[in-house]
Amino acid sequence: MRFSVATVFALAGLSIAGPVGQATKRADAVSLLSDLYATVQVYTGAINSTLATLTPSSSIIEKTAAIPKVGQQLNSITKAITDTTSSINSLAASNASESEKRSIDPLDHPVEKRQVDTVTVLLTLIIVEIFATIAGAIAILGLAALLIYINPLTGAIAALILAVQLLLNVVLASVTLLLNTLLAGLALTIGGL
Ligand SMILES: *[C@@H]1O[C@H](CO)[C@@H](O)[C@H](O)[C@H]1NC(C)=O
Ligand SMILES: *[C@@H]1O[C@H](CO)[C@@H](O)[C@H](O)[C@H]1NC(C)=O
Repeated sequence: MRFSVATVFALAGLSIAGPVGQATKRADAVSLLSDLYATVQVYTGAINSTLATLTPSSSIIEKTAAIPKVGQQLNSITKAITDTTSSINSLAASNASESEKRSIDPLDHPVEKRQVDTVTVLLTLIIVEIFATIAGAIAILGLAALLIYINPLTGAIAALILAVQLLLNVVLASVTLLLNTLLAGLALTIGGL
């Protein structure tokens, strides 16, 4: 059996791909989350446009028509988050199988600390964008009608935070606190109904 030129290139590619370091993986987490933030804004923008035609005093018929539209966008956000979580989990899995493993405290390494900071900022932006939009939707359409879309969405956000923590080997306490605070805010709204 003879190796084709393509096979040689493929093997060379593999050997080049191997030693790419952990810094690259962190950069990948940053680019995955940047992409997710951009995608989320497309859907929250669509929700905002739907809501822009309504006020809290719009007719029940108008509101009822808007609920599945907003719901579909919320489901798209959930799907985008779940896809990102899968990508981040695959990054973590490939890291775990690396032969050379380093044990690093990110806080002792300025570059890694900066990447963790960037990831924290991106997660915060994503969460704030989603909850600000949800709050606008709830104000007009009511929480009860949207809960079936919001519950999977908040679950997906929690899973994303967990995946990022596992990948970077850090605890993102401020992000988790933010999510819990916003969720508690929704629960207060439920109590106030
Ligand atoms: C949608 O509206 C919310 C609430 O006003 C705002 O925070 C968010 O940035 C808006 N998003 C887009 C993409 O317009
Ligand atoms: C890779 O795994 C090691 C130990 O298993 C861990 O210390 C490190 O933070 C991980 N790095 C990335 C980028 O996931």
